[in-house]
Amino acid sequence: MHLFNIILSVSVFIVVQGDDDFLYDTFPEDFLWGTATSSYQIEGAWNVDGKGENIWDTFSHESGKVANNDTGDIACDSYNNYAEDIQLLKDLGVDFYRFSLSWARLLPTGRVDQPNQAGIDYYNTLINELLEEDIIPMVTLYHWDLPKDLYDQGGWENEEMVQIFNEYAIFAFELFGDRVKWWITFNEPYVFIVYGMGEGYHAPGLESPGEIIYTAAHTVLKAHAEAWHSYDELFRPTQNGNIGITLDTDWKEPLTDSPEDIEASERGMQFSLGWFANPIHGSGGYPAVMKEKIAEKSAQQGYEQSRLPEFTAEEEARILGTSDFFGLNHYSTAMVQGENTVAPEPSYLDDRDIITSVNETWIGCDFVYVVPWGLRNLLNWITNTYDRPNIYITENGMCDYNATLNDEHRVNYYRSYTNNVLKAIKLDGCDVRSYTAWSLLDNFEWAYGYDLRFGLHHVDFEDPARPRTPKASAEFIRQLVADNGFPE
Ligand code: NOJ
Repeated sequence: MHLFNIILSVSVFIVVQGDDDFLYDTFPEDFLWGTATSSYQIEGAWNVDGKGENIWDTFSHESGKVANNDTGDIACDSYNNYAEDIQLLKDLGVDFYRFSLSWARLLPTGRVDQPNQAGIDYYNTLINELLEEDIIPMVTLYHWDLPKDLYDQGGWENEEMVQIFNEYAIFAFELFGDRVKWWITFNEPYVFIVYGMGEGYHAPGLESPGEIIYTAAHTVLKAHAEAWHSYDELFRPTQNGNIGITLDTDWKEPLTDSPEDIEASERGMQFSLGWFANPIHGSGGYPAVMKEKIAEKSAQQGYEQSRLPEFTAEEEARILGTSDFFGLNHYSTAMVQGENTVAPEPSYLDDRDIITSVNETWIGCDFVYVVPWGLRNLLNWITNTYDRPNIYITENGMCDYNATLNDEHRVNYYRSYTNNVLKAIKLDGCDVRSYTAWSLLDNFEWAYGYDLRFGLHHVDFEDPARPRTPKASAEFIRQLVADNGFPE
């Protein structure tokens, strides 16, 4: 039995007991601290200097899609205020800044034959000024803002997107790869696929749970793999950087220790994280439980074949191993149970009934249930399931509905979550190498618009200058980074 199997099975029962045993210790010396944003959520300047339209522009401009009909037209205006953002990063003392490229700002049609010089200049300046301040740029290629033209050509359902994305990635490596050494192809494929093409409350707003989502995921996995291979073969030899994908999941805690609930937890993990992680980090292809359950249900529904597509052996091999690190976003924990009862809320997938039946109680904020040990359990599960990968936490954070600067609750969240990361490293042997606080700024929180705030810095969205003010949580993160943890 693998060492981490033992650790995992023990930790599930021990860690669940509570979290009074705070660990006073520091993180490994080379541990990296950062904070993150994404282009659509902060940049604004949606139609300025030649930027093309993307699906979030279109979606947010349609009435009734986003809370208060908020849009990212101006957002934090980081297109103009980026220098101030860099100053905030400097004040925090973080090692890196994770941000994303707006594909349509660089390539208004999405295609590489028509680049937009102003967009190239913007990112060159941002990258250069970060480096001048000794802040490492960590760049996400796709944080959900697909150029509209590409959506009109079929979006992620279109198999041609594999090559189109690959060309965009090569374009970015050529332009910025001399200075950018950390690349993330896709941010949270689960979320933009399930929410955007399953449930419809994210752009592009398609409602097709259980069908399009699987085709789109198939394309995205292939597109990711091609971009990784392009980097690996054409750029790594001279640029010598790292490239991976960021996946997300909540932790699925079994409601009881009954075998049914434990199995439901495992199944839930496979349908959320395993869907993307098994093809890349695991044994290759989709998790066995997904293949089995979706095929079974598809047959019952009268489909001639499973709604879950299959990779050829060659595709499976080409996707496997295409991430230099395990990029992880995590926010919360759900309690799951094994009976096939109907989920109390509208299901987020047609296949919810074959995944887990969920007994979720999200408190605090709509979707952040504060369970610090859930992150520790998740890190152990990943360590155990994917043979102890090096894990980069690329997002973790807490939202609220109020604009207070004295965000004690967020300080407590960060303190307890980061302490559980420390425990996973020091007590459980997980190989975690970075932590990223989401987010540097209050920003456009997708379907919630500006109602939900995740920032270490408050942004006044009523003021055209979008002034930023540090919250208590910014001071907490500054101290945490300075101390590299919790020295006694
Ligand atoms: C994940 C996403 O990557 C980010 O864009 C979003 O704002 C946060 N989670 C909070 O929901």
